[in-house]
Amino acid sequence: MRKPLIAGNWKMHKTVKESIEFALEFKERIGDVNDRDVVIAPPFVSLFPMFDILKDSNVKLSAQNMYFEEQGAFTGEISPIMVEESGCKFVILGHSERRHIFGETDEIINKKVLSAVSHRLIPILCVGETLEDRENRRTFDIVGEQLARGLYGINFSADFVVAYEPVWAIGTGRTATPEIAEEVHGYLRNKITEIFGKDKGDNVRILYGGSVKPENVEGLMAMENIDGALVGGASLKVDSFEKIIKFGRQ
Ligand code: PGA
Repeated sequence: MRKPLIAGNWKMHKTVKESIEFALEFKERIGDVNDRDVVIAPPFVSLFPMFDILKDSNVKLSAQNMYFEEQGAFTGEISPIMVEESGCKFVILGHSERRHIFGETDEIINKKVLSAVSHRLIPILCVGETLEDRENRRTFDIVGEQLARGLYGINFSADFVVAYEPVWAIGTGRTATPEIAEEVHGYLRNKITEIFGKDKGDNVRILYGGSVKPENVEGLMAMENIDGALVGGASLKVDSFEKIIKFGRQ
């Protein structure tokens, strides 16, 4: 049985002060949630102050990105050691905004995945097709390649999470229907089984991301291969994020 995982990706939102205010209220609101994992990925500068507040709670922290080297002359980058020391258990890698705005390739993302794992961080590897890919019926090819290349060479015992985020559904209000998402999730699970074997295939959590809201989370989470959500916009308000986390309880 896969434990659901709901992660909030704040992107470049919230100052340190705003992050602290959120954390203080949020921690109280979801104090009774134990049957699912709750993760927040704030901007780097908010990680440590939030860790201080959340360390004895059921909320875990994630970075939104990191560089693969441990240290050195890499102006503007953050290393896996720094991410881990800031209290993170997870790191989001290969988000479509990193791929499309900052030009990250599968090769770079793979180096980051390997580096994360070797520093005991759990990568949340994002994959997803553009609208053009979908219209050209290339969805499975694209996500399959991003998955295989992103995870290439990873230790078979390493823990990782996959997030399917169709680029056309991110921040657009246009969610994939549960059926469309499930089709891709099933494909990704088969691919993981093919590469890593049945045990891994059965146990890896595959999150859906792209305009997840309190109104559509139930339908998505009812699907067999959807094990959680990577939430952008709707994770910025305590109310809506709490409702998403508490899916199935209303
Ligand atoms: P969204 O973002 O929920 O605002 O669509 C999701 C994501 O990019 O992780």
